[in-house]
Amino acid sequence: MPSANAANRLMKHYLGTARTLPWRAAPGTNAPDPYRVWLSEVMLQQTTVTTVTPRFNRFIERWPTIEDLAAASDKSILSEWAGLGYYARARNLIACAREIAARGSLPNTAEELRKLPGVGEYTSAAVAAIAFGERVLPVDTNIRRVAARLFAMEQPTDSQVRDVMTPLIPTDRAGDFAQALMDLGATICRPAKPLCSRCPLAPDCTAFALGQPELFPRPKAR
Ligand code: ADE
Repeated sequence: MPSANAANRLMKHYLGTARTLPWRAAPGTNAPDPYRVWLSEVMLQQTTVTTVTPRFNRFIERWPTIEDLAAASDKSILSEWAGLGYYARARNLIACAREIAARGSLPNTAEELRKLPGVGEYTSAAVAAIAFGERVLPVDTNIRRVAARLFAMEQPTDSQVRDVMTPLIPTDRAGDFAQALMDLGATICRPAKPLCSRCPLAPDCTAFALGQPELFPRPKAR
């Protein structure tokens, strides 16, 4: 059964292997710029890290602060967004930027972040954990798969994933913990042929102990 030790091993692994991404602070260091975290998480909804990275860099070069973004015209932002898909996301991004600039800074809890236009359960938790260190977990498909295997849950809901994983979040490293799980799911705890021999969570993993990591989570019936 996963323990605090599991989280420690995961954190240690992340320090050595974290992907360098332009919206991340170096792992284990101070929290990154909340504006960059928020912008990246909005872009990363349903768009891959590879696609987002160069587009994120262009946005930041053009609008280095949220005040810059809030002052930009809709037209210029929408044309810079082109190709990232989901027009509604860009519309919400603009509305959010203006609301945040008007209030002076990003809200620093998931609960308050949720009140911004278009900010849902996932984005609010991601920004609160990564930018502000709140002990909350953004549940995406990678994190859901890692949790499903760790606890041998066949079809966990987001809320079940949060229930079993939240106690494992280290007190002072909620953001690194979330991003360590994202990286683990993307590189080691893959849907098919997971690389369990390299996984820092293998000693705690129930699906691994059963010899059947790929059976978790079970695909939803169609
Ligand atoms: N996907 C969504 N958010 C991410 C992050 N912070 N790092 C890597 N992949 C992500």
